[in-house]
Amino acid sequence: MTTNKPFGTLTPISQESACCGDDCCGDAGSSEITHEQLETITAAVQHQYGSLASKAAERAADSTSVKATDKFYSEDQRGALPDEAVGASAGCGNPMGIADAQHGETVLDLGSGGGIDCFLAAQEVGPDGYVIGIDMTPRMLELAQKNAESLGTDNVVFKLGHIESIPQADNTVDLVISNCVIALSEQKARVFSEIFRILKPRGRFVISDMVTAEALPADVQKSAAEWVACVGGAAVMSEYLELVESVGFSEIEVVKEEKSRPDAIGWEETLINLTLRASKPNS
Ligand SMILES: C[S@@+](CC[C@H](N)C(=O)[O-])C[C@H]1O[C@@H](n2cnc3c(N)ncnc32)[C@H](O)[C@@H]1O
Repeated sequence: MTTNKPFGTLTPISQESACCGDDCCGDAGSSEITHEQLETITAAVQHQYGSLASKAAERAADSTSVKATDKFYSEDQRGALPDEAVGASAGCGNPMGIADAQHGETVLDLGSGGGIDCFLAAQEVGPDGYVIGIDMTPRMLELAQKNAESLGTDNVVFKLGHIESIPQADNTVDLVISNCVIALSEQKARVFSEIFRILKPRGRFVISDMVTAEALPADVQKSAAEWVACVGGAAVMSEYLELVESVGFSEIEVVKEEKSRPDAIGWEETLINLTLRASKPNS
């Protein structure tokens, strides 16, 4: 990413453009980002997802709204969740669908949103397990906590925090999941280093994220509106995979890779919904 022009004024963004769902959601190499750009992205992302949290109930009830859950989750999974968790869902995959979480494990979800993947994880790890959701948007956290109360789940906790500096001790997590969030970070190398730090030896991650086959046009990369839609910051997939490897992960496996917008023409053709699995070596 270049630094010659900070992100412009945020253009109004429709709720349906929230990543990822029907329209979805990158520094494989953005080490040169300015402080001003960082603040602009963070504020824009919090604004967008705070607004989505406020409209989760309305969105859940709107049968014309195409939600991530319609596309990526089974009917059984959807049925077991509060409407507002479904309404706030904005992922680009279903990491818990392939994570194979075990009873008693500790799972941490980066950018937990309304809590959808945390609640699915909580069912899998059972009462002896523990799930932690991290999100930087206060309104999303409030919604997730409300959803946990309505489910009566007591093995999930939601914490305010940034995925670039995860509030979790070293070597304490069995499984890290994330669904369309790392594309929103301009510091991807730092995020993957943090994931490596908190995972136990032999721990693993399963992440769904937006990446690209080719570099996006410069104006798309610089657009705040495209960033909050998980597009502007999406990294080139080969660079993303190199980053994961450079941090020290092994057994890196592309579990799923599909066009994010199958009918798109032009630069949007390059957008990919990626689901990736990798492990932290034993030593
Ligand atoms: C596209 S939504 C996905 C939410 C959830 N994973 C899902 O599948 O519904 C992105 C979420 O990540 C959060 N987020 C974005 N950047 C973040 C960061 N740097 N640190 C913590 N949370 C972040 C947003 O507040 C938002 O709730």
